[in-house]
Amino acid sequence: MFRGQAVPVEPLVPDRIHDIDLAIASTPDEVAVECAPWFVEQGGVVVDESAAHRMRDDVPLVVPEINADAVAGHSGIIASPNCSTTQLVLCLGPIQREFGIRRVVVTTCQSASGAGDAARQELLTGTRELLSGQPHQNKQFEHPLPMNLWPKIGRILENGSTSEEHKMVLESRKILGDDNLRMAVTCVRVPVENCHSEAVFVETEQPVAPQQVSELFRESPGITVLDDPAALRLPAPIQCSGHDDVFVGRIRRDDSVEHGVAFWCVSDNLRKGAATNAAQIAELLVENRLVENSR
Ligand SMILES: NC(=O)c1ccc[n+]([C@@H]2O[C@H](COP(=O)([O-])OP(=O)(O)OC[C@H]3O[C@@H](n4cnc5c(N)ncnc54)[C@H](OP(=O)(O)O)[C@@H]3O)[C@@H](O)[C@H]2O)c1
Repeated sequence: MFRGQAVPVEPLVPDRIHDIDLAIASTPDEVAVECAPWFVEQGGVVVDESAAHRMRDDVPLVVPEINADAVAGHSGIIASPNCSTTQLVLCLGPIQREFGIRRVVVTTCQSASGAGDAARQELLTGTRELLSGQPHQNKQFEHPLPMNLWPKIGRILENGSTSEEHKMVLESRKILGDDNLRMAVTCVRVPVENCHSEAVFVETEQPVAPQQVSELFRESPGITVLDDPAALRLPAPIQCSGHDDVFVGRIRRDDSVEHGVAFWCVSDNLRKGAATNAAQIAELLVENRLVENSR
């Protein structure tokens, strides 16, 4: 049932896929690898949430506020980025346009729901167990998350980074169109149910003042500035959950470099980090008649 109406749910098998112009796919990577091509072979277009196709040359990786033009070059699949990448590039895009970017340093605080619904449930159940003195056995996370945090998301790579950190670098470069963008990333899983937060330091090419960045963010689509520490109005996960915008606060000078700005951004990873972005890509395709053209 959805909004009071029965919606049929069918198994995802190739011979059931007919006359589908546009599909939004939100499955594990291995399912996307196998199944997305089925829709394309039938003349359909797939907006894919998974990481399976994001770095393919023939697959645009799109955050509509930043690189909407990229959809024009699609060949059947358009990818939506990693949730941590989306909120980051939404903020970096305007800074890149106005001031140029030399280097980015970011630490993420990623919620349990970013690892899927079973992981979100494990955090809630585990927290109840811990507070009532019962033993907690982690299954979804490789380390217990309640009252804890874990500085490793994905696999450890040869250079000591994790696959999640590597994804953020490659995806940000692709969306911002700068293959040489210098980035240092640390991804941390935190015991928050929903919404990812990021501490971001940006070294710019041109001189930059926090007030300029604040004004730039205020006029940028998809961003809400919430930056009044005196009134205790700053972005925090519980307050940002359920909203489509990326919330930014703590905008300040980074005095450790010649031209630098620092800020904190929070986004609902299930909304702008996933579903909202995919729906916006779908709207973009329809508005630009890029669905019909592929048939
Ligand atoms: N969570 C986030 O913040 C986030 C953000 C950006 C991107 N993503 C990406 O979005 C995708 C889904 O993530 P999630 O967090 O929603 O994970 P999830 O809560 O574990 O959900 C996985 C979904 O995939 C479906 N599925 C699994 N195998 C399938 C199959 N063989 N055929 C059809 N459907 C199948 C599941 O359907 P059933 O429930 O019926 O099993 C479920 O709806 C992943 O690729 C993830 O990397 C997630």
